[in-house]
Amino acid sequence: MPSEPEIIILPDTQAVQRAAAERILELARARVAAATTFSLALSGGSTPRGLYQLLAQEPFRSQMPWSHTYVLWVDERYVPPDDPDSNYRLARETLLDHVPVPPAQIFPMPTSYADPAAAAAEYARQVQTILERGQGQIDLMLMGMGPDGHTASLFPQHPGLASPADALVIAVDDSPKPPPRRLSLTAKTINGARHVLFLVTGADKAETVRAVLQGPVEPQRLPAQLIRPQNGTLTWLLDAPAGSRIAT
Ligand code: 6PG
Repeated sequence: MPSEPEIIILPDTQAVQRAAAERILELARARVAAATTFSLALSGGSTPRGLYQLLAQEPFRSQMPWSHTYVLWVDERYVPPDDPDSNYRLARETLLDHVPVPPAQIFPMPTSYADPAAAAAEYARQVQTILERGQGQIDLMLMGMGPDGHTASLFPQHPGLASPADALVIAVDDSPKPPPRRLSLTAKTINGARHVLFLVTGADKAETVRAVLQGPVEPQRLPAQLIRPQNGTLTWLLDAPAGSRIAT
């Protein structure tokens, strides 16, 4: 049974980023102590950017078990890895270029196939390998949410929401938010994780946060509602503006 989400409201974006960095460090250390490796799935967006910069600085830089960490992506824009829109590029420039994760443990989503569906199939194979190494679960998924309720590249009323039940990764070819072509982990893959952490900031998301967390269940309209880990924890870190409509 999915557990109820933990909702934490903090004063501002910086506090959300710091709390996320502290949570990542705590989970990574515990997991490496118990199982040697830690797998971390990254997202794009402006809130993660500040988090990645923080993780690349002390004390996190020295304290994180980087050499035991495996890095993958929750979603990716289907652009070359050096494109300014690339989520891989964002993570590389802000974090991965500055910490000692072995290159062989970094798994960007492939974006060079002519057919994104072939890239999704290839990434599904890579995710499967990471899952096998992690005793069937990815340790931590970092998620964002757009004002429209999308998360990862799972968009409202989009056919991608109806992906085959066993799909790990999907290709999206007409995202309503540019760029139109993307790859995304499916809700099923995300819900298989040990821990899922949403970072959501900004007053423009307040009503959607309330609807997702406290409104009727309408996942076609609000794909973020699809994210309910089956055997894991779900935490929402909100800044005060994003959390301003939550009834406590
Ligand atoms: C994208 C964005 C998007 C983002 C959310 C939250 O793929 O177009 O990355 O999915 O994650 O809109 O982003 P912010 O953290 O910037 O609010």
